Amino acid sequence: MPLAVLPATEADLPRSVAIERRAYGPNKTTPIFFPGEGLSLEDRVAQMSARKRDDSACRWIKVVDADLEAKGEESMIAFALWFIYSGDVKPSLPRRSWGAGTNPEACDAFFGEMDHLKLLHTDPDHQRRGAGGMSLQWGTAEADRLGLVSYLEASEEGRPLYERYGFKEVGRIVVDLSRWGGTEPATAYLMLREPLLN
Ligand SMILES: CC(C)(COP(=O)(O)OP(=O)(O)OC[C@H]1O[C@@H](n2cnc3c(N)ncnc32)[C@H](O)[C@@H]1OP(=O)(O)O)[C@@H](O)C(=O)NCCC(=O)NCCS
Repeated sequence: MPLAVLPATEADLPRSVAIERRAYGPNKTTPIFFPGEGLSLEDRVAQMSARKRDDSACRWIKVVDADLEAKGEESMIAFALWFIYSGDVKPSLPRRSWGAGTNPEACDAFFGEMDHLKLLHTDPDHQRRGAGGMSLQWGTAEADRLGLVSYLEASEEGRPLYERYGFKEVGRIVVDLSRWGGTEPATAYLMLREPLLN
């Protein structure tokens, strides 16, 4: 089962969306957040495509299984979307305002650089084989190389894996879903990782 991390191309977006849907399908919050059909596959691909094309910070990677490829089967088993803000590449929206009496240049230099994991999904048929970890290894190695703090919002499922890669919880977003029939709140764990400096 030789797995490899490769850059994803535009042609990999439909499979990314399919993996995203399969990965989130069993989540208890899915029927509350997305009770209907939601975006069509084509519209979601178009949304991702625009992001990939228009944002120079966007780094899309995929994990492929060479054995599946050799058998002529679908070989892409996971993907991750990282945004790497470094050097001249800064977050575009929303433009942060620092307010009167501040030093915007110093604030941008200090707070503006970051490595942000936006999406990480593994096809449920291929979970617990290391693909998620390889995607994290890729992004955190980039963060270490560039000396960037990394940020993500973790699901319950992803949290142990992120902790293994050095992310620490710094806060939570908890939304009460009871008025939509949810039996437990939806929680996102806000996590930061300091870069390992050589
Ligand atoms: C979270 C998620 C991305 C993890 O992906 P994954 O490819 O299964 O990740 P890995 O295989 O690298 O690691 C998962 C677990 O399997 C273990 N594992 C890795 N390789 C393994 C192997 N060969 N044999 C057995 N277990 C293994 C890891 O140690 C890890 O254990 P832990 O959960 O106790 O930390 C995946 O479960 C997913 O897509 N979930 C739904 C969507 C989601 O919540 N995404 C995260 C949003 S923040």
